Amino acid sequence: MPISDTLDYLATHDARFHAELFDFLRIPSVSALPCHAPDVSHAANWLRDQFEQAGLEASIHPTEGHPVVLGEWRGAGRDARTILVYGHYDVQPAEPLDLWLSPPFEPTLRNGRIYARGSVDDKGQLFLHVKAIEAHLATNGKLPVNVIVLAEGEEEVGSEHLAPFIEAHAERLACDGVVISDSSMFAPGLPSILSSLRGLAYFQIDVEGPSVDLHSGSYGGAVVNPAMALARILSTFHDAQGHVTIPGFYDAVREWESSVRAQIRTLPFDNDAFLNETGAPALGGEAGYSTLERIWTRPTCEVNGLLSGYTGEGAKTVLPSKAMAKVSCRLVPDQSPDVIERLLSAHIASVQPAGVTVTVRALHGGKPWRAELAGPLFDAGRRALEQAFGRAPVIVGEGGSIPVVHDFARVLGAPVLLMGFGLPGENAHAPNEWMSDANFVGGMRAAALLWDELGR
Ligand code: BES
Ligand code: MN
Ligand code: MN
Repeated sequence: MPISDTLDYLATHDARFHAELFDFLRIPSVSALPCHAPDVSHAANWLRDQFEQAGLEASIHPTEGHPVVLGEWRGAGRDARTILVYGHYDVQPAEPLDLWLSPPFEPTLRNGRIYARGSVDDKGQLFLHVKAIEAHLATNGKLPVNVIVLAEGEEEVGSEHLAPFIEAHAERLACDGVVISDSSMFAPGLPSILSSLRGLAYFQIDVEGPSVDLHSGSYGGAVVNPAMALARILSTFHDAQGHVTIPGFYDAVREWESSVRAQIRTLPFDNDAFLNETGAPALGGEAGYSTLERIWTRPTCEVNGLLSGYTGEGAKTVLPSKAMAKVSCRLVPDQSPDVIERLLSAHIASVQPAGVTVTVRALHGGKPWRAELAGPLFDAGRRALEQAFGRAPVIVGEGGSIPVVHDFARVLGAPVLLMGFGLPGENAHAPNEWMSDANFVGGMRAAALLWDELGR
């Protein structure tokens, strides 16, 4: 059967595919919150049934955390290539709920956008691959290559159990390429292939002082204040130019080739529109780099959360007994989270004020990654995106992290193709997350075309 029949199948069954996606989005599979563990496992079971309906052999693999769901089709035979599709079925917590215009787990189509927690990150993008496979198997009875779909339920909490799973099942997961849709297009109508992801090293810093909150009049001035101690520590992380001042922090940073920096400058990027998207009064960052370079090519050290003392209404004269900060560093090749943990801990030990106890704990991490941007999978992806969107894809960097990408490359030795269908401003992790309906449909077509291209 020609590919046009497969694309017709996608069009004919469009209403059902939307209804199924909405069912998927109704499951609050929040991996971070223990109270949602039954929902996470419900989502895994739901996905297994979907894999089966698509014609894949489906299995659920419990881990020490949330389960891995596998779908396999090996009908192309031992001599044919094998492609692994990865996605995650877990989502971020939906809070704060009062900022959602429609409830996070009641998917709603408004103005061409599918609003729901997980719509774009990553349920919609995972599901479009399942439907593209279903379309091929329903219209052709086969695919040109063997296929493995691997869906995990812990991406949003650091994929702790996935690398061991891949290592333990390396033979079963052996493949010639990995395809992931868990990122965004640079602009509407402009399909994009990722050339890089940043890594992550996430920490919690706890500063402890007096055993209880103290009266700030009776004791203030005579006891070291943990909130001030923490502020002093945090203030040593950067200089006035926005460079990170943790000794050794940049040692492993591999400079980007000037050709990559030149290519970034050709992208249609508007600083004012970006500023507008953030709602911040001004942009800021490391001196000497453009906004896109700051996000894609430079590492950061940021405070993600701060907690100390009295934060209720009005005034309370108290000297807090403790202070806490969540701090994370986004990393670029060849930085590694383990080394950054050592450097940060040593730096904090060298600057911490006397009179308080400071502990630094690593919460999770992931390695940065850079693509090869060549080879049969990359070429097939480029052609598929061009046919689906009527425009050749651009090559873009990414500031976010997908820790498992490095593990796929390391353990399976396979190239990874990241073709995402999100859009700027999609509110991933935030209230009112949405996925463009046009991209859900275009993504299904691109995914179907990818299999066709891989058969050429
Ligand atoms: N899909 C994102 C990664 C991403 C973000 C890709 C933005 C493209 C654009 C992924 O689900 C994610 O949120 N990753 C976390 C990693 C963490 C929880 C270990 C991130 O980047 O914060
Ligand atoms: Mn994601
Ligand atoms: Mn995410």
